[in-house]
Amino acid sequence: MTLTTMLESVELTPKIGSQLKIDKAALLSGEHAQEIRALLVKRGALVVRGANLDDAELRTVARTLGDLRLGGAKRGSDGATLSEGEEGVLKVSLDDKVNPDYARFLFGNFLWHMDGTYEDVPPFATLFMPYRLSKEGGDTMFASTYAAYEDLPEDEKARLDGLRVVHTMHAALFPAKRNCTPEEFAVWSSYPQRSHPLVWHHKSGHKSLVLSTSGAWIEGMHAAESHDLLQRLMIHATQDKYTYRHKWQVGDLAMWDNTGAMHRAMPFEEGSVREFHRCTLNGEEPIMAVS
Ligand code: OGA
Ligand code: MN
Repeated sequence: MTLTTMLESVELTPKIGSQLKIDKAALLSGEHAQEIRALLVKRGALVVRGANLDDAELRTVARTLGDLRLGGAKRGSDGATLSEGEEGVLKVSLDDKVNPDYARFLFGNFLWHMDGTYEDVPPFATLFMPYRLSKEGGDTMFASTYAAYEDLPEDEKARLDGLRVVHTMHAALFPAKRNCTPEEFAVWSSYPQRSHPLVWHHKSGHKSLVLSTSGAWIEGMHAAESHDLLQRLMIHATQDKYTYRHKWQVGDLAMWDNTGAMHRAMPFEEGSVREFHRCTLNGEEPIMAVS
């Protein structure tokens, strides 16, 4: 007979972020996988201090929690394949020697976003582990889009229901690199755009805001009104009370629910060696406007 212990966790802020008290063996075994998944969706982001996983172990843990994303599917007009990294582990670094495919896009991570908003079904979750830390800064922040939706006045919730937002790569990247060249802008613009509902009616019955810097405009709305509304919602959703800021230590493991939270990297020094290894779990439901 094996004894399964209770999953222990501590809330890091009232509305988002919990720390799991779990050792490496228990993480790897998957014995708490269903509880961890449920807690991830409930708390938006989870962290484990001292997990000390190598790439193979990170993959193993990821596979206990969902459908690990492998290989590349996206291709830009410049012919570059954006692969998810060998064997499902992507190196997140601004150094193009570390990540030749992605480094030139990853400065967009400095602004609040959801991953994969250009896809039909955005990823469910990401597991994230520091490999080398920056000298300064480089915390990661998470913001609950469930909590931000929940606190909106009822008449506003009704007004937002049914609106659709077009997500584009140039909307996501231009604000993070205003001094880009026309050629860079053209590459970003060559990637597919995707329209998603602004309010996600999850299968679970819960609702969240689908916000990201990639959200360029609201379909059928005057450009000025659309700009103001998206900006106002972003300011609302990223108030301190909806966010958790993680200060990294080597050995940490963090994961975020990409369907109910935004995230961002905080600034760090230029030319930094900062490198994270991540596993992405494929999405399990499209963003639906009705449940
Ligand atoms: C990402 C991301 C944030 C960070 O990998 O998708 O946004 O802190 N990372 O590096
Ligand atoms: Mn991201």
